Amino acid sequence: MKVKGIIFAGAVCLCVLFSFITGDEVAGRIRAQFVGVDVCKNCHGSESIGNQYRVWRSSPHSNAFLVLRTGKSREIAKNAGVAEPYYDRKCLKCHTTGGGRTEATKDEGVGCEACHGPGSEYFEFSNHASYLDRESAYRKAVSRGMYPILGVKGIKARERVCRHCHLDERPCAPSDPEEKKRRRLSLSLIADLPPMLKHTLRR
Ligand code: HEC
Ligand code: HEC
Ligand code: HEC
Ligand code: HEC
Repeated sequence: MKVKGIIFAGAVCLCVLFSFITGDEVAGRIRAQFVGVDVCKNCHGSESIGNQYRVWRSSPHSNAFLVLRTGKSREIAKNAGVAEPYYDRKCLKCHTTGGGRTEATKDEGVGCEACHGPGSEYFEFSNHASYLDRESAYRKAVSRGMYPILGVKGIKARERVCRHCHLDERPCAPSDPEEKKRRRLSLSLIADLPPMLKHTLRR
């Protein structure tokens, strides 16, 4: 990428980092909203580009909302002073896209947009994809709210996204310090997703 591109990506990166939590004000002052996994599935459920939806569906992230209905969750919630974990922002914050604030995503678990950014301004093909010039398409997407987490250049932003939820201190963290350490996501896992999470495009 040329120098101009790097400066641009840096600027976008900063704006985007500030908007992680709300998904609101993004680069270019576009107010992007979460649209939900089903919108992405329309295309990313297709085998011709690698069916990223299928990989996500069988990953723990798609179960992150349902897990709030288990007995274990009730127990954790009780200790945290939470009556109904699947309604409470204290749990939804990390167990669904957009922290339970957006109707479209409040029960989908950790969906595409939790990691890729709110999609209302980039979900259309012409706003984020191109078979001829992927680089420019991605740049356009990032200017419209997609988080710049792809490839080697995206490692820092990616780490921030993952660690936004994968914190040592959370209501559901194991109390055993050894187990807590074991659960900590390593940078190498973040940089090179395990097969269970890997969902690259078919080229
Ligand atoms: C209208 C179809 C369509 C929809 C809807 C769609 N995508 Fe895509 N997306 C594509 C295609 C096609 C590609 C690129 C294929 C290629 O380059 O081979 C792509 C590429 C991507 C990429 C790679 C980076 C880039 O910008 O090229 C990401 C990440 C992505 N999509 C995420 C999403 C997310 C998240 C959603 C839902 C909010 C979504 N897409 C909705 C068709 C779609
Ligand atoms: C700061 C983010 C965050 C918050 C807030 C949060 N969780 Fe979690 N939760 C996670 C992450 C990340 C994991 C997966 C960690 C892992 O398995 O390494 C997880 C895992 C779990 C699991 C599976 C645990 C296991 O050991 O298999 C349960 C159950 C759970 N959370 C319940 C809750 C409940 C109930 C609340 C609210 C009282 C809550 N969580 C709040 C981030 C969070
Ligand atoms: C837990 C976070 C997370 C979730 C959830 C997630 N992704 Fe991704 N996605 C990533 C990361 C990180 C990469 C980059 C992987 C790499 O570069 O090796 C990626 C890569 C991609 C790519 C490939 C880009 C390329 O150039 O190969 C597409 C397309 C994509 N994601 C679409 C989706 C769709 C659609 C969903 C929902 C069905 C989804 N993602 C859910 C984190 C996530
Ligand atoms: C919005 C919050 C959120 C984000 C962002 C997020 N995760 Fe998670 N992740 C969770 C929750 C919650 C679970 C537990 C789901 C369950 O057990 O049902 C989980 C589970 C996992 C697991 C399985 C842990 C286990 O031992 O079972 C791995 C691995 C993981 N995430 C890696 C990542 C990586 C890598 C990223 C960044 C690319 C990421 N996550 C981004 C919330 C998040």
